[in-house]
Amino acid sequence: MKQKITVSAPGKLMLLGEHAVVYNRPCLVTAVNQRLTLIAQVIDKPLFQLEAPDAGVTNYSKPLFEIGQGDIPKGAKFVEIATLNFTKKHRIKQGIKIKTTSDFSPLFGFGSSSASTVCILKALSELFKVKLSNRQIFELAFKTVLDIQGTGSGFDVAAATFGGTLYYSKAGKKTIKPLNLKSLPLIIAYSGIKADTVTLVKEVATKAKRYPEIIDNIYNQIATLVNIGEKALVKNDLQTAGELMNFDEGYLAALGVGSKKLADMIYSAREAGAYGAKLSGAGLGDCMIALASNDKIQAVKEAITKTGGKIVEVKVNASGVRVEK
Ligand code: MEV
Repeated sequence: MKQKITVSAPGKLMLLGEHAVVYNRPCLVTAVNQRLTLIAQVIDKPLFQLEAPDAGVTNYSKPLFEIGQGDIPKGAKFVEIATLNFTKKHRIKQGIKIKTTSDFSPLFGFGSSSASTVCILKALSELFKVKLSNRQIFELAFKTVLDIQGTGSGFDVAAATFGGTLYYSKAGKKTIKPLNLKSLPLIIAYSGIKADTVTLVKEVATKAKRYPEIIDNIYNQIATLVNIGEKALVKNDLQTAGELMNFDEGYLAALGVGSKKLADMIYSAREAGAYGAKLSGAGLGDCMIALASNDKIQAVKEAITKTGGKIVEVKVNASGVRVEK
């Protein structure tokens, strides 16, 4: 049996379909080349030990039989509950020492929680020789996220597991379809504001209770633009994809998850010649994305920077969870 393993999983960016995807509509998501790396090691003592400095967790240690119990720091929750789900299911009784590091700030909304959940499940399956397909890793990781958050679509877990650019829906048996893209010249910028996904999902749910028909119609419109967007991206029709991003931004504003800061960044990108721009993720803060032709990219970046946005240089369409060594 292997005693130590290093695995990594990518961060993600939502292209089209956030919020509606929680209510069984489809979305488009791409994996980014900034990754979360996790080292897991089997140890002699029956302990669960975790170092996750990027998530504010240092020197965290507890007996194996106490995993999942007591006060769990926020930054340890996903790795700990995933370990609990795995060790319970596969009757593992050995101690484990884990360390995570991230290429990206947890503030960006790139999905450090889902990436770390996927990483620990991949690492444990390799260490304890439990053969898990990517689909099984995805299912167990999604269950873990739901155990902790009670809500979520799983699109971020799908991106961390499978990588690439995906058409995703959690409706029915869940659709995870990789898209074969020629190019995706995406500009990404951080707003400087940290968004809380769970709170925003709840706020939208409250609005949906008050205005059920309106919100349901918005979700249906978003589903339609995601379906058109999938075809546009596969055909490399970036003009259409950009216009659909603008539509989506309008619907997200109607859901109440826009903000002045994001709107300033988004309008400046459009005015500098982007095909389209929108927020990406839960809204209010985190990142925005813009799609532009190569000759416009520099101008769009400069315009966003002038509004106080911070350009994040990442490549999209990155590979999914993998063993590093
Ligand atoms: C957050 O990044 C995207 C949401 O659609 C939540 C989710 O899909 O889990 C708001």
